[in-house]
Amino acid sequence: MNRRNLLTVAGGTLLLTGLGVYGWRSSVGSMAGYEAYASRLRAALAPEPQILDLIRYATLAANSHNTQPWRFHADGGTIDILPDPSRRTPAVDPDDHHLFVSLGCAAENLLIAATASGRPGALSVEGESVRYAFSTAQARPDPLLAAIPARQSTRADYDGRPLAAADLDKLRAAADMPGVRLVLFTERTQIDRLRDLVIAGNDAQMADPAFIAELKHWLRFSPRAAMASGDGLFSATTGNPVLPEPLGGIALDLFFTAAGERDKYARQMDSSAGVAVFLAEGEDRAHWIAVGRACQRFALTATGLGLRHAFVNQAVEVARLRPELAALAGESGLRPDIVMRFGYGPSLPFSPRRPVAAVLV
Ligand SMILES: Cc1cc2nc3c(=O)[nH]c(=O)nc-3n(C[C@H](O)[C@H](O)[C@H](O)COP(=O)(O)O)c2cc1C
Repeated sequence: MNRRNLLTVAGGTLLLTGLGVYGWRSSVGSMAGYEAYASRLRAALAPEPQILDLIRYATLAANSHNTQPWRFHADGGTIDILPDPSRRTPAVDPDDHHLFVSLGCAAENLLIAATASGRPGALSVEGESVRYAFSTAQARPDPLLAAIPARQSTRADYDGRPLAAADLDKLRAAADMPGVRLVLFTERTQIDRLRDLVIAGNDAQMADPAFIAELKHWLRFSPRAAMASGDGLFSATTGNPVLPEPLGGIALDLFFTAAGERDKYARQMDSSAGVAVFLAEGEDRAHWIAVGRACQRFALTATGLGLRHAFVNQAVEVARLRPELAALAGESGLRPDIVMRFGYGPSLPFSPRRPVAAVLV
């Protein structure tokens, strides 16, 4: 190849690489841009926040598949949290159990944020929705307020360090809620049995085409897609690479295997300091909302103590595994609602949320 051809090929290669990098960047978006977006969503409340700011704090709650299955209606001294049926996940949650637990999580955030900033009130379940009725009074500082924007589901390996007994007591006390039982597992042999149930549930879900199709619908592989929809499970929040959306789908088909997931869950459970299992005393909306409130308080308290937490709900979602899980918790006859591991570990990028305007009725 003469010098002129060589220069042409080199120039062409540079141009194509540049176009490729540009195309990649513009279809994926930047993580720096995503992180700025995630911090704006979690900006601290002003000393005298508007109702819309309180609703923003409510939406930072844990919720199944990050579908954010809620709508808010504010009117005078009440804020109603209503289910959003368009955000149901019938494969993983055919009876809307997770949907109502998610409403309970949001309701608890709302109660904490409003009370701490001068709008104390009470929550009640009204048919399908949760009502927060409030008055105005002096702000009542609550350490859980600061934990609301700091909390995240951290699906990473933890470092295995055990918790001090006093911290376990604080977690237990925080989740105390009428109608909800909490069983804490910190003995390794028992955590091992829970791990086996999580893995059995995960195997069943991986073999279920409806579960996988629904999961794929809520996956986001790029910062751009996560910010555009403001919902769903963004790969970076689970420590996975960001990719253009079509490549993400291909990578998932190639690398998302039952064996790989089994190893991941085994590591995650083995490295956790403990596991919390929540079981309600009844199987109805009001109890599921109460479970959501209890597990949100547990997660916020853990966050305040410098702990990480993540839901591992497979053995709840696969109905045939529930009796074994309940028996392991010493609560045969009750339906287990939530399984949450906790421990010390790293943080990961925060998950997206839709803007408040998108969740108002
Ligand atoms: C009822 C319920 C069930 C959940 N189940 C799981 C689960 O099985 N696995 C998981 O990784 N996350 C689970 N999550 C966590 C959500 O995916 C998470 O809250 C959501 O993606 C938002 O992320 P964030 O908690 O970091 O804000 C569950 C959350 C709720 C409320």
